[in-house]
Amino acid sequence: MNSGVKVLAESTDLRSVPSEFSFVNEPTGSNSDSIPIIDFSSLTSGNPDQRSKVIQELGKACEEWGFFVLVNHGISETLMKATIEGALEFFDLPEEDKQKYEAKHVSDPIKYGRGSAITTSDKKIFLWRDFIKSYVHPEFHYPDKPQNFREIIFEYAKRSRFDFNLSYKELFAANYYPPCPQPDQAIGLPPHTDHGLLTFLIHNGVTGLQIQHNGKWFNTNSPQNSILVNTADQLEIFSNGRYKSVKHRAVVNNQATRISVVIPNGPAPEAIVGPASPLVQRDGRPLYRPFKYIEYVETQLSNTVDGKVNLDYAK
Ligand code: SIN
Ligand code: FE2
Repeated sequence: MNSGVKVLAESTDLRSVPSEFSFVNEPTGSNSDSIPIIDFSSLTSGNPDQRSKVIQELGKACEEWGFFVLVNHGISETLMKATIEGALEFFDLPEEDKQKYEAKHVSDPIKYGRGSAITTSDKKIFLWRDFIKSYVHPEFHYPDKPQNFREIIFEYAKRSRFDFNLSYKELFAANYYPPCPQPDQAIGLPPHTDHGLLTFLIHNGVTGLQIQHNGKWFNTNSPQNSILVNTADQLEIFSNGRYKSVKHRAVVNNQATRISVVIPNGPAPEAIVGPASPLVQRDGRPLYRPFKYIEYVETQLSNTVDGKVNLDYAK
């Protein structure tokens, strides 16, 4: 694809989704539950009762949902706004400024994707999304424009970092989903699970992230200034299957551009991942064998079942 979905969506005569974007969506269900809210300030508070209550809630959220909304996390509203604003400014740059980061290889430290494609069993489908991704840890990479984007990415990524006490890799990713004339016939991101440990997501107030819950697609709706967190594949393994990584997708709409900024935290490529030993002792046996994360990532390219890596290979 020569120009991004942004350029395509801005063309005045676009009335329908071009056939290469055509994607059959599973319908969105109705669901009256809401995603659990976790108060981060209670997790770090000196009050042991409060702390143990939130730890219980957190465990329950990871077990029952694989998603939670983090509030009182300590990242300032100004920084969150600047991060979304910076991402928007990046996508508004002239094409040639973005094109130099065009993804050539999966391991490129900075990657710009314009209407990237997925391959299903019988065809290639373009996604209704442009993106920019850069590795921010252990090495810090960033696009050189817009001005200040470097400082913003650095600060935001640093503030949303978890100390996993293991060697890990961290990515900054911003997604741009322009309005789509036929939102039911295209997809921003198809159903998938994330590969790492935990993923943090913020957005510009336009909804679009859906998660699979009780067998239905469920619209997420997170309050302003909160962070949506989801458990990813390595946490499923690390928890010996207790915290399942949950499938999610990004749907598009015909009204407004949606921007999301995602920080996926994952192990370093050479790190050995396996179930935590206290859980193995409690459960009586490991449900997964230890393996190198890079081995896992390579396997996912060839061993994905309906958006989720078939974790059986690790058993
Ligand atoms: C993702 O799953 O990586 C991003 C989803 C979103 O943009 O809401
Ligand atoms: Fe994801």
